[in-house]
Amino acid sequence: MKVEIEKLISHLKSQGFVFQGSEIYGGLANSWDYGPLGAEVKNKLKKLWWDFFVRRNEYNIGLDSSIILNPKVWQASGHLGNFNDPLIDCKKCKSRFRADKLVEEKFADMNVGGWSNEEIEKFIKENAINCPKCDANDFTNIRQFTLMFKTNQGVVEDEASTVYLRPETAQGIFVQYKNSQRALRKKLPFGIGQIGKSFRNEITPGNFIFRTREFEQMELEFFFSPNDSNDWFEYWLDKVKFFLEKIALIDTKNYSIREHEADELAHYAKRTVDIEFEFPFGRGELWGIAHRSDFDLTQHQNHSGQDLTYLDPETNEKYLAHVIEPSVGVERLLLAIFCQSYVEEQLDNGERVVMKLPYKLAPYSVAVMPLQKQQKEKANELYKELLLDFDATFDETGNIGKRYRRQDAIGTPFCVTVDFDTESDRCVTVRNRDTMDQERIEISKLREYLLTKLI
Ligand code: GAP
Repeated sequence: MKVEIEKLISHLKSQGFVFQGSEIYGGLANSWDYGPLGAEVKNKLKKLWWDFFVRRNEYNIGLDSSIILNPKVWQASGHLGNFNDPLIDCKKCKSRFRADKLVEEKFADMNVGGWSNEEIEKFIKENAINCPKCDANDFTNIRQFTLMFKTNQGVVEDEASTVYLRPETAQGIFVQYKNSQRALRKKLPFGIGQIGKSFRNEITPGNFIFRTREFEQMELEFFFSPNDSNDWFEYWLDKVKFFLEKIALIDTKNYSIREHEADELAHYAKRTVDIEFEFPFGRGELWGIAHRSDFDLTQHQNHSGQDLTYLDPETNEKYLAHVIEPSVGVERLLLAIFCQSYVEEQLDNGERVVMKLPYKLAPYSVAVMPLQKQQKEKANELYKELLLDFDATFDETGNIGKRYRRQDAIGTPFCVTVDFDTESDRCVTVRNRDTMDQERIEISKLREYLLTKLI
């Protein structure tokens, strides 16, 4: 069953996962902050991605490049020329819309990706697509609006000091491709992964953390020889599916794969596949896998005048590497995981809200609790011991049932209770979040027990 987005937002706020940005000042449109528990989940998600796509892949290495790059990077990449959205204004109520979305929202199976502005304007007129706000059919012509966030570097605000916040982390990788390859003596094929903030002045941000103007991306640029007969696109598509299913534990019935039509491809792409997730507000892009060919390296070689070719040690040939790019937004993946994890369950003695987060993403792996005040000291001792190996928390307020519910609500996989008998039998009760089953475990075997369960 799909979770209601308003319920999810309210839960995430009350439990300290996600807060409205700048809330005490009335907020800032579509900006969100990650609270103490949200920051934990986000960091864990990034670490899982980094481990899988960078550390534990035989081909790949990592990078951390700047957000502000030389503006020539964005000329070369095509972002200053092509990274625009078609905007249209309602003359009557002055509301502004993305013209392509107006069509696609009215005709769900239409894709106007490759259409000219004139074609979209004509279609809107002929098909009586009215203003969603005031229902008038009186629009301006379409104008292109750049998504690049502009600012100035240094004290003088003029053309020469104009810089941009990066709209994707990928270009930072392309401009450091040669340095990275040389320094690490990498041979093709190899990939460079990066995690970092990106900024887009989105026209229609919204749907909670799905589309925001400031977000984080986890991108891999995988470089290979144009003569390589391996199907690297399928290789990376399989890796992405593996990560989604086996690590983020996304249910296969909640996502689907969509191949881009030729006229829908981004200016740099030869082939693109989107992994789309069934969000509560509809299906939306979660992860894109693109074949960027040698577009970016060609552009940067031409604009910088630097030789970015690779000298193949086996064939002695010089060529520009081709690139496959799996790219995902941290917050979008987080939202998919939150949507899938939020569960309301009817129990014999009431109901519970439980965040069935993958164990590796739960803010805490284990909560230690004394049954009553008398066991506080012993429980505290055990808590400190567990902290050496686990993300543990200590919970002593309210009755034990309330504490279990509280830990369910934030997704803690195991609760360990120290009770009256612990002193004599040297055992504790371990409760499982999902099954709610309880087991009596010897304290001396607790570490081993948890390590095995939390794998
Ligand atoms: N380097 C390729 C690239 O940036 P993209 O499809 O524009 O491609 C990749 O973005 C991923 O980044 C998307 O699949 C999505 O997960 C995330 N993303 C893009 N724009 C976003 C936004 N405004 N807010 C949150 N996530 C976004």
